[in-house]
Amino acid sequence: MSILSIKNLSKTYQSGSRKLTVLDEVNFDIQAGETLAIVGPSGSGKTTLLGLCAGLDSGSTGSVVLNGQALEKMNEDQRAFVRNKDVGFIFQNFQLLPTLTALENVMVPLELKKRKDARQKAQELLEKVGLGDRATHYPTQLSGGEQQRVSIARAFANEPKILFADEPTGNLDTETGEMIEKLIFDLNKEQGTTLVLVTHDLELAAKTQRIIHIKGGKIQEDVHA
Ligand SMILES: Nc1ncnc2c1ncn2[C@@H]1O[C@H](COP(=O)(O)OP(=O)(O)OP(=O)(O)O)[C@@H](O)[C@H]1O
Ligand SMILES: [Mg+2]
Repeated sequence: MSILSIKNLSKTYQSGSRKLTVLDEVNFDIQAGETLAIVGPSGSGKTTLLGLCAGLDSGSTGSVVLNGQALEKMNEDQRAFVRNKDVGFIFQNFQLLPTLTALENVMVPLELKKRKDARQKAQELLEKVGLGDRATHYPTQLSGGEQQRVSIARAFANEPKILFADEPTGNLDTETGEMIEKLIFDLNKEQGTTLVLVTHDLELAAKTQRIIHIKGGKIQEDVHA
């Protein structure tokens, strides 16, 4: 079963009188439970593509069907509902809410799901990423790698069907990076979560079942291991 189906997806930005094509007629399908890496040079469109796949933004043309739901036909509220139900997202720049503590940031998706055990579950997730003793810290009181780990705990919170991770280990030392890598792949093994990683780390990419190479907004290669 296809969990994500991308057809003729393009994204253009207008910059003054010039049209900038950031994604150019992208096509691929991802099967439920698959693990995949998207690699390519800086500026090639990886983050843009991930955002469109996850319903954070919409394309200029083409379609994105996530878990049977056609995102391009939805308004922002409907897409937000799908995101909270099915999607986990680890951002390249964390995107933690600055006025909430680490614990409260992780609680957000749980509270949206009206889970009564939100606080306890969020604490467990923080412990899992090694931050049990940083629960009451605000993002500015955390190091870059710690913020990244809070954002990972938040992405795990709603037990997503598909996890999108943009450079999940980019800001971490080797040891912490390996710990996070293990958590992400365990999620795939234990819960069957589909993984879509964007990374410059070719060793990490090689651990997935499939690598999509993107350049200038176009897929160059789509290689199954
Ligand atoms: N809102 C925007 N308006 C105009 N251009 C944009 C916008 N967002 C992104 N771009 C352009 O789209 C291109 C692709 O950006 P994107 O962030 O997807 O690259 P990337 O592959 O993730 O790069 P990196 O490896 O550096 O993270 C870049 O050239 C960028 O300047
Ligand atoms: Mg990027």
